[in-house]
Amino acid sequence: MKLSSLILATLSVAALQAAATDITSPSGQLKLTVDVNAEGTPFYSLDYKGKTLIEPSLLGIVADETKFTDGFEIVEVDTVEVDRSWEPVWGEYSEVRDHFNELAVKLHADNPNRDMTLRFRLFDDGLGFRYELPVQDGPNYLTVKDELTQFNYTGDHTLYCIPGDYDTDEYLWSETPFSGLADALNSYGRHSEAQRTGGSTIQTPMLLKTADGVYVNQHEAALDGYPAMLLDIDTDNYDMKAHLVPDRLGVSAYLLLPFHTPWRTLIVSDDARDILASQLVLNLNEPCAIDDTSWIKPMKFVGVWWEMFTGYQKTWAYSDDRLAKPGVTDYTKLTPNGRHPANTANVMRYIDFAAENGIDGVLVEGWNEGWEDWAGYRKNRQFLFDKPYPDFDVDSLRNYAQSKGVKLIMHHETAANAADYELQLDRAFKFMKDNNYDAVKTGYVGAIIPRSEHHTSQWMVDHARHVIERAAEYQIMVDSHEAPRPTGLCRTYPNWLAQESARGGEFESMGGNPPSHTCILPFTRLKGGPMDYTPGLFQTDLSYYGEGKDTKAGTTIARQLALYLTMPSPLQMACDLPDNYRRFSDAFQFIKDVPVDWADSRYLEAEPNRYITVARRDKHSDDWYVGAITDDTARTAEIDLSFLPKGFEYEATIYEDAPDADYRTNAQAYRIRTVKVKPGQKLKQNLAPGGGAAIRITAKSK
Ligand code: NOJ
Ligand code: CA
Repeated sequence: MKLSSLILATLSVAALQAAATDITSPSGQLKLTVDVNAEGTPFYSLDYKGKTLIEPSLLGIVADETKFTDGFEIVEVDTVEVDRSWEPVWGEYSEVRDHFNELAVKLHADNPNRDMTLRFRLFDDGLGFRYELPVQDGPNYLTVKDELTQFNYTGDHTLYCIPGDYDTDEYLWSETPFSGLADALNSYGRHSEAQRTGGSTIQTPMLLKTADGVYVNQHEAALDGYPAMLLDIDTDNYDMKAHLVPDRLGVSAYLLLPFHTPWRTLIVSDDARDILASQLVLNLNEPCAIDDTSWIKPMKFVGVWWEMFTGYQKTWAYSDDRLAKPGVTDYTKLTPNGRHPANTANVMRYIDFAAENGIDGVLVEGWNEGWEDWAGYRKNRQFLFDKPYPDFDVDSLRNYAQSKGVKLIMHHETAANAADYELQLDRAFKFMKDNNYDAVKTGYVGAIIPRSEHHTSQWMVDHARHVIERAAEYQIMVDSHEAPRPTGLCRTYPNWLAQESARGGEFESMGGNPPSHTCILPFTRLKGGPMDYTPGLFQTDLSYYGEGKDTKAGTTIARQLALYLTMPSPLQMACDLPDNYRRFSDAFQFIKDVPVDWADSRYLEAEPNRYITVARRDKHSDDWYVGAITDDTARTAEIDLSFLPKGFEYEATIYEDAPDADYRTNAQAYRIRTVKVKPGQKLKQNLAPGGGAAIRITAKSK
């Protein structure tokens, strides 16, 4: 990785008389003011294009031992302009520019003595700021109970959000003004077992749109050693305040100083496309920590997975009689249920399918001991990560996959027993490497063990970091499910290929995802990092499988193809069953062709919850790909082909909704046509209700 850096100007002002400090973003369109008020509480405000976006908003941290909230004066102010770029191992762009003006405000308080630095980075596309707590002339172990950070908005703006929940983010999104938030959140009936914050608390990443059409994505970057941040919303005054996820003792963070918090981030633009294109969260993360990244490989995979979601016959478990026979530890003594897809012969069929179609990997779920008793028969140890079921022959599968040039992808469902997973981790990773597995999907379904923790509390943030670091040592790539929402740490640890951390495609078999769902995720959840959304659903009517499944997915087939573009990830599943791909093999061709790593990306059209059109250039060829999706209303996407280099003739293969397609009534109706296109041409592309279009564009000749 190359890192070029240009520090343009450094200015250090020993501001003996505390004065308000302003900086602007490099182009001047964002203006930040920082000061302390009469109580000595620091605050900031933010203007965008000459209008107030965030009114004076307080800053501070509250610990049992001391409060970093008042009595402060500004003792030093440093500003610097930095303009540099870096090359990600994978991503939407082959090079990312990191250009900002930084303001560091050193604060000091007497009685008791406290020091704190507030560091702000103001980019043209937004703001990041964090608290830095140096070693104090006072307590250096802090028991953090609260963070004051406010985001005080100016009006009854529209929020796109999901409920504040310490344990899950697998929700559908609400679009609501501040004033309607309580009702919107009350409409959620799911996940009643999860700890709720109650009231008007929401999660980040969230999106906001002002009455003037300014979009703000609010999240955090580089979450490390600290709990995730939710937002408490004051719906009368349009204010937000940080709400740190606590453990069950009510403590949010145990800190040893020096420490700095994650960055609090705001991506800001009056053009919705800029929110999607922004790399601000990645820019605020540390550079890659892995020297040799040659083993990190973006990939597509199929898996022994969807079979378990499509009916009631198939199970992750090898046997049904585990619960009836407590005390049995020898799995060969159990009666196989005969409905267990992760068996040797079936996995070989998936390997064959992957090999035939140039798909890199096969995920195996339900291969190991422990699924019989989700409630925790083994008490402190449910799953064993080096104990295959009797019908899963590790040796022959390793050899078979190798002979076919396909990688097997491991699955570690921990049932949220994170403590035990840490104890098994080395053995589990060694078992993987011994058997030629380079990637693992992890899972944390259920209440976290230790029981005092939440999925997004400090302890679990630390756990996730520990797993990713250990995985890097073993040269293992990770796809984590039910882990803390991503905050761009994949820049530092690019072996963290993807996360779930939102309501994924699997919900198409559990109530469904409305088409708007994938029109909001790229504006919210995806700003933290790629999602293992599992696109590629071709059998969209789940009643096809009988047995009580009556869901119709919120999608057409053409839209599923477009998701490979609109939900960018270096790890993309083709989620459906091989038989379904054989039935629609001409549409499957697009999944075979579409890359998962990009040299360049151009967002052409976007409106949250409504539509997205994006073009991307393959990192390994000159081919361009376009994906367009809409919500549940039909739409004509206008695809401006100005991004194509001049001087060539191009051929576009268009996978589109048939004229009579509709996700409710005719989801599998698509057409494929090939047309000649020119740079600068504006393609009009029809999208059906809940539909989409996917296009491959290749240069033909001069
Ligand atoms: C939930 C995950 O999101 C899903 O992908 C997985 O199959 C199940 N847990 C079982 O581990
Ligand atoms: Ca999940």
